[in-house]
Amino acid sequence: MFNKELVKLFSQIETPFYYYDMGLFEKSLNNLKSTAVKYNYKVHYALKANANDKILETINNFGFGADCVSGNEIEKAIKIGFPSDKIVFAGVGKTDKEIEFAINSSIFGFNSESIEEIEIINEIAIKKQKTVPVFLRLNPDIDAVTHNYLTTGLNENKFGIPLSFLDDVLDKVQKLSNIKIIGLHFHIGSQITSFEPYINLCKKVNIIQENLYNKHGIKLKYINLGGGLGINYTNPESELISDFEKFFSIINENLHTRPEQEIHFELGRSVIGQTGSLISRVLYVKKSVNKQFAILDAGMTDLIRPALYGAHHKIENLSKQENLTDLIKYDIVGPVCESSDSFDIDIELPKTERGDIIALRSAGAYGEIMVSQYNLRNKPKTIYSDTILQHLKSESNN
Ligand code: LLP
Repeated sequence: MFNKELVKLFSQIETPFYYYDMGLFEKSLNNLKSTAVKYNYKVHYALKANANDKILETINNFGFGADCVSGNEIEKAIKIGFPSDKIVFAGVGKTDKEIEFAINSSIFGFNSESIEEIEIINEIAIKKQKTVPVFLRLNPDIDAVTHNYLTTGLNENKFGIPLSFLDDVLDKVQKLSNIKIIGLHFHIGSQITSFEPYINLCKKVNIIQENLYNKHGIKLKYINLGGGLGINYTNPESELISDFEKFFSIINENLHTRPEQEIHFELGRSVIGQTGSLISRVLYVKKSVNKQFAILDAGMTDLIRPALYGAHHKIENLSKQENLTDLIKYDIVGPVCESSDSFDIDIELPKTERGDIIALRSAGAYGEIMVSQYNLRNKPKTIYSDTILQHLKSESNN
């Protein structure tokens, strides 16, 4: 991914920065688009994964919709140009102000997670004399077999309406004058690396749909299966573009749909994850009792996933790409005053020195968007492959 010339350019730029390979990104979007068209599936990109303007503009140019979880994300999506009728609004705790804003914006639908929230949406809708389209987000109690913090479809999670409440919720919703239930919504978790949980989800959705029809005579137009498709963090090169064909074909095989039904998805990580890397420099190689620390100028404020979820991002010493035989073990850490500010332990790299350029791979999703300024650190810069030369020119002019 990083040839010599590119690393030379990196070495002229102040680190740390996020680098996005726009060529790879477009290829990935092309693949997603053609596969979605093949199955007639609709994709809403989950803004929470990465909401950089340029990334969003590119996604919008491909005609995808937007999945938002805050009023600000809706505002951003509209500003970028996503059509309102392709925007869905999810989240377990929407404020009145956000609900009002979303109603005013005439979005495609609310993914609602409780009757308590739907009642408030109805009150606000009555005041505005509008009817609001709502998807019921159900909690199917399915194990997504992922990190504890990234599972959302189990009964113990705060998300979704428990299946056992569904009949009661439907009774109550029918009495609400300004709510129109248009579909069902599910999202069982993130970084899901096997298809088994999705097969289980489809089977559950089939049963729910059957019951809805048999018991209530309800036929819903939309089924939204959420996001969650995982990416390969260990060996990104082996799967730079997610296997959307396999994913959609499995859904297609297992989900029973009616001809008039539309199937929607909300993908985030699989769309942008492999496109981005956090590029950093080694400040010091510090010897300790039994180990050596490579201390980077990037820390947990720049990429929090390892500290927060124990996540592994492949780490590469880009300055020493030719010397991959004599490997030494390092703990790769950041400069922040927290012991959890560690990117990985005991990883093998070529002999590493002060000034070496280090890449933390697969950081396009939930990387830059989760940056903080703890310790009053600066935010990392953003560099795109197609404008890196312009960036260097403008830096040298300043
Ligand atoms: N839809 C809903 C309702 C969601 O909650 C999420 C992610 C998505 C879609 C997109 O899921 P994706 O396709 O990106 O897996 N910060 C964590 C990830 C949190 C995901 C939260 N919800 C991380 O760094 O791994």
